[in-house]
Amino acid sequence: MLILGIESSCDDAAASVIETTRPGKATVRSSAVANQDDIHRAYGGVVPELASRNHVITIVPVIERAVAEAGCRLADIEGIAVTRGPGLVGSLLVGLMCAKGLAQATGLPMVSVNHIEGHLLAPLLEHEIAMPYLALVVSGGHTALFAVDDFGRYRRRGNTRDDAAGEAFDKVAKLMGLGYPGGKVIDDLARRGNRRRVKIPRARVRGAPMDFSFSGVKTSVATYLRSDAGAATGPEDLAASFQEAVVDMLIRPTIGAARELGVDTIALTGGVAANLRLRARLSEAGANEGLRVVAPSLRYCTDNAAMIALAGSWRLLRGERDDLGIDAEASLAL
Ligand code: KG4
Ligand code: ZN
Repeated sequence: MLILGIESSCDDAAASVIETTRPGKATVRSSAVANQDDIHRAYGGVVPELASRNHVITIVPVIERAVAEAGCRLADIEGIAVTRGPGLVGSLLVGLMCAKGLAQATGLPMVSVNHIEGHLLAPLLEHEIAMPYLALVVSGGHTALFAVDDFGRYRRRGNTRDDAAGEAFDKVAKLMGLGYPGGKVIDDLARRGNRRRVKIPRARVRGAPMDFSFSGVKTSVATYLRSDAGAATGPEDLAASFQEAVVDMLIRPTIGAARELGVDTIALTGGVAANLRLRARLSEAGANEGLRVVAPSLRYCTDNAAMIALAGSWRLLRGERDDLGIDAEASLAL
C-alpha cells in the first residue's frame, strides 16, 4: 500500500510517501520538509501566525515534491494519513484541510494521526523493534515516556511538569545569545567544553520518579550568567555543563521506567534525540542494564511526515478511514 503522509503541526510542513505491507514495516519512498527556521529565527521562537501563513504557501508544493521524489503520481497513492493534533491549531488546519480536500477529490481513505504517535513509531522506520518497548519523546514541545505495547496501545509513564527539554535548550541558547533554534548550537559548542566547570543542580520531581522538570535548569543558567563567574566562563563550558545536566535528568527516569516495565528496548525520538551526548550517554546507560537503545536518523527524529504515514498505516491497512468532518485539536490527547 502506498501511503501519503502530511504533517503541519508546528513550523515544518512535511509530506512523505511510504510503501507498506504490514503494520510497522515500511519503506520510505520520499520524505520532504519545508523548514521555516529562517522565518522564525528573528523572533527567537515559532510565531504561530507566521507558521500557518507559510504552510498555506508551502503545503501543496511539498506534497508535489514528495510524490515526485517517490517516483509515482497522485493516482498511485492508496491512502492518506494526516496529523490532527496536538500542535498549533492554525498550522494543523492547513495540513488537515489539504488532506481532506485530496480525500474528497480522489475518494481515497484518509486517517488522522496524533503527532506524538508519529514520534513514538518513528524508530520503526529504520529498525526492527519488538513491542512492547519504551519510547522517550524529547522535542521542543514534549518530553514524555511512553510504553508502546502495540499499535494503538500507548501508556504514558512520565511527563515533564513544566518546560520540554528542547524548550530548555532553546531558552538557554537565547539567554547565551546563541540564536534559534538552540539545540544544535549548544550540542556543537558543548563538544569543546568542560562539563564539570559550572555546577548545575539536577531537578527531580518528588514522588514521581518518571517525571521531568526543566524550568530550574534554565533559571540556574540565567543566575550564573549574571554572576561574576558567569562573565568569566566561556560559552563552551557553560553549554557543556548545561547539556550534561539535561542529559542526566533525562536518563534517570528513562532507565527507571525501562526497569519498571521490564522492556528490553528503549527508543529515543523527537528533535532532541539528535543530541549526540544524549545518544551516547543513553546508549551507555542502557548497555549497563542490558538494554538496547535505538534512535532514528536525524531526519526522522525531528518533525517529518514519514512517521505520520507510518502511524496512520496500521489503520489504513485494516481498511479504516476517518470521517471528513473531523477537526484539528491543539491539545489532542494520546
Ligand atoms: O521534534 P522537533 O523538530 O519539533 C517539535 O515537535 O518540537 O524538535 C525541535 C527541538 C528544538 O527545541 C531544538 O532545539 C531541539 O529539538 N534540537 C536539539 C538538537 N537538535 C534539535 N536539542 C539538542 N541537541 C540537538 N542536537
Ligand atoms: Zn514533534
